[in-house]
Amino acid sequence: MNKISIIAGNSSEDLAKKLCKRLKANFVKSEVRVFPDGESKITLQGNLSKTKTIVVHSIHPPVDTSLVHTLSLISKAKEKSSDITAVIPYMGYARQDREFLTGEIITMKVLGKLFKGVGVSKIIVVDIHSILGLRHFSIKTKNITAIPDLVQYFKKLSLKNPLVVSPDQGGKQRAKEFAEIYGVDYIALEKSRNRKTGKVKIETINVDEVEQRDIILVDDMISTGGSIIKATQFLKKHNCKRVFVACTHGLLIDDAEKKIKKAGVTKIISTNTIPGKTSLVDISESISKELK
Ligand code: R5P
Repeated sequence: MNKISIIAGNSSEDLAKKLCKRLKANFVKSEVRVFPDGESKITLQGNLSKTKTIVVHSIHPPVDTSLVHTLSLISKAKEKSSDITAVIPYMGYARQDREFLTGEIITMKVLGKLFKGVGVSKIIVVDIHSILGLRHFSIKTKNITAIPDLVQYFKKLSLKNPLVVSPDQGGKQRAKEFAEIYGVDYIALEKSRNRKTGKVKIETINVDEVEQRDIILVDDMISTGGSIIKATQFLKKHNCKRVFVACTHGLLIDDAEKKIKKAGVTKIISTNTIPGKTSLVDISESISKELK
């Protein structure tokens, strides 16, 4: 048997298969049966290596269910293998990395305890919302960036005088990285979010440079689409040309994709951290380099 086995969480199967191929690992499927009350019964199909097992599963919506699945898969793998690495391409709860309002629970701190408890040796994530979240973990962690892979995709599109835009100041560094690899300019808008209602607002700033240019809006994730919609409306009002969206995690809750298109976005491109219609960029090569 191969020295490495890879357990695929039920919605990260495609990515896990790609990693198996790159690492010549043994593929282990996880079959999930959901009871009427919402509980999951998970069964592994395949043999685990005694040496090293990699669990691949994103903590995507329904986030709490995916979290329990990930912890269960790690816990089961630990019964057989001495060395467990968890690849969590999309780390849910990463936005809950600090106490914004008094009394708020820092869920990333709780996750740190849970992961340690099930015995994982290392966690690999992709473009985590903020690196601060990982500081609550006492185990080894690594954040991989999907930006170079996203840029490669955009290089194949013929954009007119493109400008990279971050919808908020928090994503400025991400936009800078994208723009530098691509070889174009970047700016960051001023977005504010009401911490109680979650509503977002783009402040009016001087953005003359967007006029008549194709825009690449770069973000780590799209959830409801609210941030991207507000940014697109703002940019369109300032006479940009087409708006493209590059994001690592396309959660696209409910009809987010439809609403984003309706706001005037030409195309949304995300990676396969979360499989879906927009996940056109494969990040298995970047992850496999970290696993070798
Ligand atoms: C926020 O700071 C994040 O980087 C994303 O912009 C945000 O979480 C996306 O959420 P939504 O699509 O619901 O606006």
